[in-house]
Amino acid sequence: MKNVAVIGYGVVGSGTVELFMKNREAISKKIGRDCEVKYILDLREFPDSPFADRIIHDFDTILNDDEIEVVAEVVGGTTFAYDYTKRLLEAGKSVVTSNKALVAAKGAELLKIAHEHNVNYLFEASVGGGIPIIRPLNKCLAGNTIEEIAGILNGTTNFILNKMIKDQMDFDTALKLAQELGYAEQDPTADVEGHDACRKICILASLAYGKHVYPEKVHCSGITNVTLDDIAYAENAGFAIKLIGSAKLLDGGKITAIVCPRLVSKTNLLASVDGVYNAITVKGDGVGDVMFYGQGAGKLPTASAVVGDIIDCLKHTDRSVMISWDDCYDDSYIVPYKSVENAMYVRIQADNADELKASISDLFGKLTYIERANRPGNELAFITPTMVEKEIDEKLAELSHSAEIKSKIRLL
Ligand code: HSE
Repeated sequence: MKNVAVIGYGVVGSGTVELFMKNREAISKKIGRDCEVKYILDLREFPDSPFADRIIHDFDTILNDDEIEVVAEVVGGTTFAYDYTKRLLEAGKSVVTSNKALVAAKGAELLKIAHEHNVNYLFEASVGGGIPIIRPLNKCLAGNTIEEIAGILNGTTNFILNKMIKDQMDFDTALKLAQELGYAEQDPTADVEGHDACRKICILASLAYGKHVYPEKVHCSGITNVTLDDIAYAENAGFAIKLIGSAKLLDGGKITAIVCPRLVSKTNLLASVDGVYNAITVKGDGVGDVMFYGQGAGKLPTASAVVGDIIDCLKHTDRSVMISWDDCYDDSYIVPYKSVENAMYVRIQADNADELKASISDLFGKLTYIERANRPGNELAFITPTMVEKEIDEKLAELSHSAEIKSKIRLL
């Protein structure tokens, strides 16, 4: 019997056990031996769960049981999860996880430990929920130089933006709904401020470019400042506003990575990704553009990726499948985002807004003014030409002497 343990019986943990046990017979066939979830580690009791008899509270029971070959760490966070993962890998057990915070913070180190002990550390569920992206990037697209990755990587914020745009729902109500549906993080600040998407783009960039990209080195802004006014201007000009995580290879081999809301042209498939769905576009020098799409959060979609990794580990108990990147805290290979070119949507307020048009055009050169229904006379919105962001900021600083800069959102 090949046995599995699950650490954390929350949304993803209970989904993992449910899906695994539902398809256990088929999974056993795929592996070639019977397999079973033997333990579920959680602080709480679950007397009403059909798997109540497997609930344990002592981590050492898993660590010291030779029958346990694979452990799903779905407890989240970087404290207990880090300690448990390290000790399990060192004890020769494979670990699979949906824990993007841990992979983004300690991925290089944990992968190294896994290789040293000839076991696996797999994390397909850490990015894009149920969407296969880690394995394709690591295997199917391995023959390419990855030129760019851009994606909607957070289901909660996409759900909220969608509700704001389509249903005119206010931000707080939409967030509450996302929490009720089990999409949001325990502390939804990580979703709405972009930290969750940042961890995910860091994982993808580390995988694509071979060096650990640490979240604290990546500029990150969330959706809390996006207003219904901005959404109206964007819609009217043929754009959707999406929270985008992106990483790009620049001339000279350095990279840039950033998470921020962006105006996405409606001609881009990313603009039509609605609700809790995520989508990731990858551009390779051989394959061109490919797109991955699916449910980016939620119990069973995320469990689907966790269970897939469990099966992979159970099939490869005798070898470590190669996923790795260098641990590299020196960030000189990351170009500061202010030195990267962007076009920017800008909304300003001034008493004499329309009279400023000539001087704004002088400042920026060729730019595009955009409209919305019932635009107030003291408001103006425009899209700058593509230029280095530092230069845009300098020009906006000059403009701020005669107008209040209300919003700045990059274009994709
Ligand atoms: N809170 C995350 C999201 C869960 O909304 O995408 C999946 O990582």
